[in-house]
Amino acid sequence: MLAPEKKNELSIPEIVDEAMLTRRSVRAFLPNPVDEETIRDILRVAARAPSGTNMQPWKVYVVSGERKQALSDAILSSGVRPEKIEWDEYKYYPDKFFEPYLARRRAVGYALYSLLGIGRREVERMRAQHDRNFTFFDAPVGLIFTIDRRLNKGSWIDLGMFVQSVMIAARGRDLHTCPQAAFAPYHKQIRPILGIPGEEIVVCGMALGYEDASKPENALRSERAPLEEFVSFVR
Ligand SMILES: Cc1cc2nc3c(=O)[nH]c(=O)nc-3n(C[C@H](O)[C@H](O)[C@H](O)COP(=O)(O)O)c2cc1C
Repeated sequence: MLAPEKKNELSIPEIVDEAMLTRRSVRAFLPNPVDEETIRDILRVAARAPSGTNMQPWKVYVVSGERKQALSDAILSSGVRPEKIEWDEYKYYPDKFFEPYLARRRAVGYALYSLLGIGRREVERMRAQHDRNFTFFDAPVGLIFTIDRRLNKGSWIDLGMFVQSVMIAARGRDLHTCPQAAFAPYHKQIRPILGIPGEEIVVCGMALGYEDASKPENALRSERAPLEEFVSFVR
């Protein structure tokens, strides 16, 4: 992250890279509100994301205040534990993890828990941390992304690009985010509160707000594989 005075000297490529490089999953937010015009600007910019034949298949529900609280309460009081709930609409993760994905998943999990001082056997504390998803990590704004269930995988690619664009546009306004698949299996609790019709699949949520930089979990910097592991230059 650049010092504020350096920000004014950036070239356009540096500004773009800065937005992408400083995007990370933030899991503790300040209570400072985000004004609705800023949210509208972010979503308007993000909707410049490309989509096959310009179908723009994304839908997003913006939730704050009492409705956000109601959403959190409905999930947390549902009595359905995340490890037991069925992903009955779509599966984000494979049934069985395998390499190299298993190792990467474990690495980020251990890194997060070690920053929080949660030991490998402290299941209750792990659960409590996971439950923080459902309050959007105390962010003042929550987003719930949906897609029409009649659409195909291609449109899910488009939705993913929209979601990333939201996160990048947020960085341009000093805001941070955390994308959250954790909401998807709780669609039955979410639908009545947000008025989401049956033809839409709840794909993921997102916390949006100002980072609480004093919280240890926000010191997490996830790793990335080197280019050699995922790029083939074919000459
Ligand atoms: C679609 C999607 C869903 C995610 N769901 C969650 C989630 O439910 N809870 C969470 O804490 N992080 C979630 N993440 C964040 C990932 O753990 C994170 O992106 C990854 O570890 C890389 O870290 P970074 O985002 O800080 O670069 C999700 C990420 C994506 C892209």
